[in-house]
Amino acid sequence: MSARHKHPGFTTVRKCKAIVPLLLSWFATNARDLPWRRTRDPYSIWISEIMLQQTQVKTVIPYWQRWMRELPTLQSLARARPEKILKLWEGLGYYTRALNLHKAARQIMAMHAGKFPEKFDDILALPGVGRYTAGAICSIAFNQPTPILDGNVIRVLTRVFGIGENPRDKLTNTKLWQLAETLVQTAADISRPASRIPHPASLASHFNQSLMELGALVCTPRSPRCCDCPARKHCIAWRENRIAQLPNLARRAATTGRRFIAFVVKCNENFLVRQRPSGVVNAQLWEFPNLELNGESDLKVVAKSALGFAPKNLRPLCVIKHSITRYRITLEAYQSQLKLAPTKTRQPDQWLAPTELKQLAFASAHKKILAQLSP
Ligand code: ADE
Repeated sequence: MSARHKHPGFTTVRKCKAIVPLLLSWFATNARDLPWRRTRDPYSIWISEIMLQQTQVKTVIPYWQRWMRELPTLQSLARARPEKILKLWEGLGYYTRALNLHKAARQIMAMHAGKFPEKFDDILALPGVGRYTAGAICSIAFNQPTPILDGNVIRVLTRVFGIGENPRDKLTNTKLWQLAETLVQTAADISRPASRIPHPASLASHFNQSLMELGALVCTPRSPRCCDCPARKHCIAWRENRIAQLPNLARRAATTGRRFIAFVVKCNENFLVRQRPSGVVNAQLWEFPNLELNGESDLKVVAKSALGFAPKNLRPLCVIKHSITRYRITLEAYQSQLKLAPTKTRQPDQWLAPTELKQLAFASAHKKILAQLSP
């Protein structure tokens, strides 16, 4: 028998049967009213799940609402121009997610006649969709008992079931997926709904969302609200006072500091900007000419290599700090006003007016610079 289909033990099944109705009842009265919870349209749910990868709920809400207004259907996404898609994504980060949505929409038009697929394997085959996202879409949109496991769910399960091994280890990870599967299957198998337990047509959907919600609202990384937890009576971490030790995540690699200088050069009311090439981080987003500092610190020399010319009167404009993956980035912006346009600029650089800049999708640190320039 493959590890994936191994049968859970009797004690595990019994514990799942006890916990599932408690989580469902709790979700019925404690779920947040999130806009994507008011629909079962798989396209809308897919967009929300992709946005929610690596991004917090409160950030996603206005992006999702604007996206659904501008691109309300799969067809409209498949037909949209990439610049429009990037503009709608501007500020969310991890832009490959947006480009993958576009690719996937075209794939669905070509391979599924424009109808969002319902089979787990077909959803998993879409670009940008992993096992978690496919499980979330299948359960939330189609009420299939497909398991989900992300950081929130790992925290809930390792605590409730007292799993002390590192959840990133392969064997432990497999065990957690199995547990998530047993739980959602237990929910789907409920036959005589008690009060506050939803209709069978949404048991798998509501159960998976209750796991996400418990991890987000109650079973939080620091200072969890155990007193409000519907599963507390069954929680091994609570009983054994191990909440602070679970999940047992090995320490992450140390972060590295990186320093960049950007140049905001203005001439005849236009600014010098460029579009990042394909195949690099933040591909196709716009930015001010900039350079990473690697030892050299003479501002004029740095400007000459970033711009192809050295502007006079460089003045500090602002310092932007942001973190991405394991990098802590400091971006120092300098500005200069030119009377005459230089003859030599770098290849991709262009002079554009502020009204044109507003139409373009900027990398987030550079969008913050842009905000400093607006009156
Ligand atoms: N995180 C990932 N998916 C989510 C969802 N559907 N609702 C709330 N938070 C989530």
